Amino acid sequence: MAPYHVVLVHFPIALWMTATLAIVLRAFSTGALARTVDRALVPLLSVGLLFGVIAFAVGLMVWPLETISASALGRNHILGASWTVACWATVLFVRWRCGEAVWNGISRWVMAGFALVGGVLLGITGTLGGHLVGIYTDVSNVLRLLGWDVYTTYYVPNVTLVIIVVASVLLLGLGVWSRSKKAI
Ligand code: HEM
Repeated sequence: MAPYHVVLVHFPIALWMTATLAIVLRAFSTGALARTVDRALVPLLSVGLLFGVIAFAVGLMVWPLETISASALGRNHILGASWTVACWATVLFVRWRCGEAVWNGISRWVMAGFALVGGVLLGITGTLGGHLVGIYTDVSNVLRLLGWDVYTTYYVPNVTLVIIVVASVLLLGLGVWSRSKKAI
């Protein structure tokens, strides 16, 4: 399955990179080009997610799970791929559910932030995939400078997990509260 995975990953990589540019453009511009590109965003993100999920599923079939998860590099690749797919699924859901309203006020910067995080996660996942096949790039050197060696397991400290859970609950509460305020 390795050649299929290698071919398939190019689709989500190209589509999500294009989506990153489109979202950043729309966040900064209200011009005709940005609006036209935005109209293609939901189909673009949908096809990107479809190919992302297919590439993910085929990736699981390349090597047995015990083999790929035996190395930190393999585990990090799976982790990066999972975060990437989850991030882009969220972007698609928000843009589809909220429509053009996502470009009003502060939420346009939230969209831009999500797109940049999704682009960076995608870049890291691709870089780790490259390491699995012996193709190295300077991205891993940058990550090393930032304190993460891609050949070692990336641990999230417990305190970070607690902060993530607390922030999620607070954001959820904020959303419910502002919705009920609107309804009054
Ligand atoms: C959206 C998700 C994913 C992306 C974007 C991605 C990306 C990549 C890339 C760019 C490569 C290097 C290809 C090359 O240059 O030859 C690669 C290789 C690889 N990936 Fe993924 N990957 C994803 C998900 C997964 C998952 C979930 C697994 C397994 C659980 C996986 C397992 C592998 C393996 C085993 C290789 C090495 C293939 C070989 O030996 O030729 N990938 N991946």
